[in-house]
Amino acid sequence: MIDIQALTFTYKDETAPALENITLSVPEGGFLGIIGPAGAGKTTLARAIGGIVPHHYPGDYYGSVKVDGLDTIDNRLTDLSRIVGTVFQDVDSQIISSVVEDELLYGMENFGIPHDEIPRRMEFALKQVGIESLRERTIASLSGGQRQKVAIASVIALRPKVLVLDEPTGELDPASSRQIFTLLKTLNEEYGITVVIIEQKIMLLCEFARQLMVLDHGRIFVKGDTREVLSHAEELEALGVNCPRVAYLSRLLEKETRETLPVCVSIEEAEAMVRGLMK
Ligand SMILES: Nc1ncnc2c1ncn2[C@@H]1O[C@H](COP(=O)(O)OP(=O)(O)OP(=O)(O)O)[C@@H](O)[C@H]1O
Ligand SMILES: [Mg+2]
Repeated sequence: MIDIQALTFTYKDETAPALENITLSVPEGGFLGIIGPAGAGKTTLARAIGGIVPHHYPGDYYGSVKVDGLDTIDNRLTDLSRIVGTVFQDVDSQIISSVVEDELLYGMENFGIPHDEIPRRMEFALKQVGIESLRERTIASLSGGQRQKVAIASVIALRPKVLVLDEPTGELDPASSRQIFTLLKTLNEEYGITVVIIEQKIMLLCEFARQLMVLDHGRIFVKGDTREVLSHAEELEALGVNCPRVAYLSRLLEKETRETLPVCVSIEEAEAMVRGLMK
């Protein structure tokens, strides 16, 4: 669904590339998590998947990005936006209406969603994101976290084939963050939507993402299945990426048991492993 070949991109007037030689493939129905330190190029990559780099942000661009078979260079942003829905890191830059329900309506009307389907989609999106009660509120009266939820709901209502979310839970509390991840899982599993999410809450990311990619200085530090990436926990630590504590558990226990143990990605898995060993 997403096919990136040797992408190198330098923003106009900059000298160092923001992305360097990125090759990545995300299958249809994939769920990819992206992590990495500040300035690693995560946002630039999100922009490149949606085509905003280089259509909106010009620069030196080498390599190719294809989504659903369309090369982002050869296609217009309006066509690409039918395939890729993006929730930007700075949600305020993407909200254009002054009332919550208008924001969702605007997107759906622009997309040409049939009129009789709009109410159903509106209710689904508001309910799933947990903001039904905010429907008639003005955007200006909302908190940062609530605005983040509005931006997520507007994109979800469009049901794009690919959802790209750039730190969508940055202003959300742990319960709301988990709610968003659970929603993404539903959209991914039940509707086959391909999910790419940049996220600092690594514990949640590891629990939900099937693939992980770690970026550093514009380059891929490591990528692969979540479990495989977490087996590099010590190297990631050195990069400033703190892996979930459960990821270290099997290494610690291996020293005691002298058995090779699988890396755990959730507390449930860790609990099952410890119980198994105690038997
Ligand atoms: N619009 C822009 N014009 C010029 N340089 C930019 C622009 N946006 C980002 N950069 C530069 O590109 C590099 C990668 O930035 P990017 O925002 O993609 O990183 P990031 O991993 O998303 O960081 P953060 O964790 O802070 O969100 C940085 O050196 C940044 O200064
Ligand atoms: Mg960013």
